Amino acid sequence: MIGNALTRQTPIKSPLEISDLFRAKEIDTDWSFIQAKPSDTGKWTHDYHRYPAKFIPQLVERLFDEYLPTRDAHVNDPFMGCGTTIVSAISRGVIASGTDVNRIAFLITKVKATPIDPDHLGKKINGLLAALKDGHIEPAIPPKHIHRIKYWFSDESTDELGKILRAIQQERDPAIRDFFLVAFSHILKTCSIWLQGSTKPTRDLSKPPVKPIDALRRHLRKMQRGNAEFYAVVPARTREHLKAYLQIKIGDARHQSARNATVDLIVSSSPYVTSYEYADLHQLSTIWLDFADDLTAYRKEFIGTSYKSSDNTKPRSQIARDIVEKMSQVSAKMAREVEAYFVDMQQVFDESYRILKPGGRCCYVIGNTQLKGVDILNAEAFADSLQHAGFALDRIIKREIPSKILPQKRDKKTGRFASNKDADAEAYPIEYIVIGRK
Ligand SMILES: C[S@@+](CC[C@H](N)C(=O)[O-])C[C@H]1O[C@@H](n2cnc3c(N)ncnc32)[C@H](O)[C@@H]1O
Repeated sequence: MIGNALTRQTPIKSPLEISDLFRAKEIDTDWSFIQAKPSDTGKWTHDYHRYPAKFIPQLVERLFDEYLPTRDAHVNDPFMGCGTTIVSAISRGVIASGTDVNRIAFLITKVKATPIDPDHLGKKINGLLAALKDGHIEPAIPPKHIHRIKYWFSDESTDELGKILRAIQQERDPAIRDFFLVAFSHILKTCSIWLQGSTKPTRDLSKPPVKPIDALRRHLRKMQRGNAEFYAVVPARTREHLKAYLQIKIGDARHQSARNATVDLIVSSSPYVTSYEYADLHQLSTIWLDFADDLTAYRKEFIGTSYKSSDNTKPRSQIARDIVEKMSQVSAKMAREVEAYFVDMQQVFDESYRILKPGGRCCYVIGNTQLKGVDILNAEAFADSLQHAGFALDRIIKREIPSKILPQKRDKKTGRFASNKDADAEAYPIEYIVIGRK
C-alpha cells in the first residue's frame, strides 16, 4: 500500500522510470567539494572522533542553504553517527533532533554539539592533566571486560588508561566529563594494537606503542581549539538554551521523538547492508566505557547488520524485492539480510514521513554497491521506498566521493570494506543524495 498516494501532486514514478532516471543522471561536480581541505571538513568540533562513513559538513551545509526555511527550523537525523548534521544544525541555531543506536555515536554527537565556555574548559583540561601528572590514581579497569582489554592493550597501556579513566570519572561537571570521555574513546585505537589503518578488528603485534597520556594531551588540546571555534559560531540563544535545541537520544531510527509534522528537513546517511558492523568496530570504546552488557543482542539493534536476517516480511518496493530475488540465487543467507535491510529502511522512511511538515524534505545520502556479484542498487531502492512512504521524488543528486573521505574498496567475496591493498572492487566512487518531498 502506498501512503498518501491519492493526495499527492507529483505522479508516482514506476520502477522502470526510476531506473531510467538514475541511468541518465550525470555527476554534479558542484557537490563533490573537491576543494574542501581537511581543515574545512574537520572544522569546529567535526574532528573530535574518527567515525566510519561520516559525511562532510560542507554537504550538510549546502543542503541547509537550499532547503532550510528559517532560523526557527527543526532538522532531524535518524542515523546521527558522529553527528555531522546535528552539529551543523546547532551551529545555525536551529532545533536538532535524532537518534543512533550506537552508544558511542550518541556520546560523540552530544559532546560535539555542546559548546563549552572556552575559559571553563581550559581550566578543566589543565586540572585533569595536572592530576594525571601527580600520578597516585587507582586505575579503573572494567572487570567484566578485562580479557578483551588485555587482548587489545599492553599491561602498561591498560594501567595508564585505567588511571585516565578514573580521573575522568571523578569529574563532577557532566558536560566536561563527557568531553573527556570522547577524548579518551578517540585515543583508544591509537594506544591499542588494533591495526591502525583498518576498520576491521585486526591485531598488529608489531605496532609501535603510544603512551596514552601523550595521546590524550595532544587530542585534548586539539578538541579545545575546536570547541573555541564552535563556541564562537553557535548563536548565544542556542548556547544558553541548549536543551531546547539539542533533542537527541540513543534509540532506533524507526522511532523519533519528534511530533507529527514538526520537522522541516531531514539530512541523513543510512548504514549499508552488511558493510560496517558498527557494534564490533567500536568495541574498544564499548568495553572501556562499559556500554553494552550483551554484545550479541546489541549487534542485532543495528540496521544493515549481518547478525540479523529477515522475518519473511517483504519490502514494499519492487526494486528492493528484485534485488533480494537476484541475491537469493547466489546466497539465501545474504538475501535474507538484504531483505531485512530494505524492510527496516522502509520503516525509517515511514517515520521520516510522519515527522516532516507538509512540503518538508528528507535527504538520504547513499551509494550503490555489489555483494557477491549482485548489484545492490540502494539508491534506486531508496527512491522507490520513499514513494511508498508517501513522498514525492523531488531530486536526485549524483556526486563523487573524494577518496580522502571514504574507503574506496570492498572485498568482492564478502562485500565488506577492506583496506585498499586487500580489496579488488571499487566501493563508493559515487553516491547519491535521494531527496523526497512530503
Ligand atoms: C553512515 S553512519 C552515519 C554517519 C553520519 N552521517 C555522520 O556524519 O557521522 C550510519 C549510522 O547508523 C547507525 N545505525 C545503525 N542502525 C541503526 C538503527 N537501527 N537506529 C539508529 N541508528 C542506527 C550506526 O550506528 C551509524 O552510526
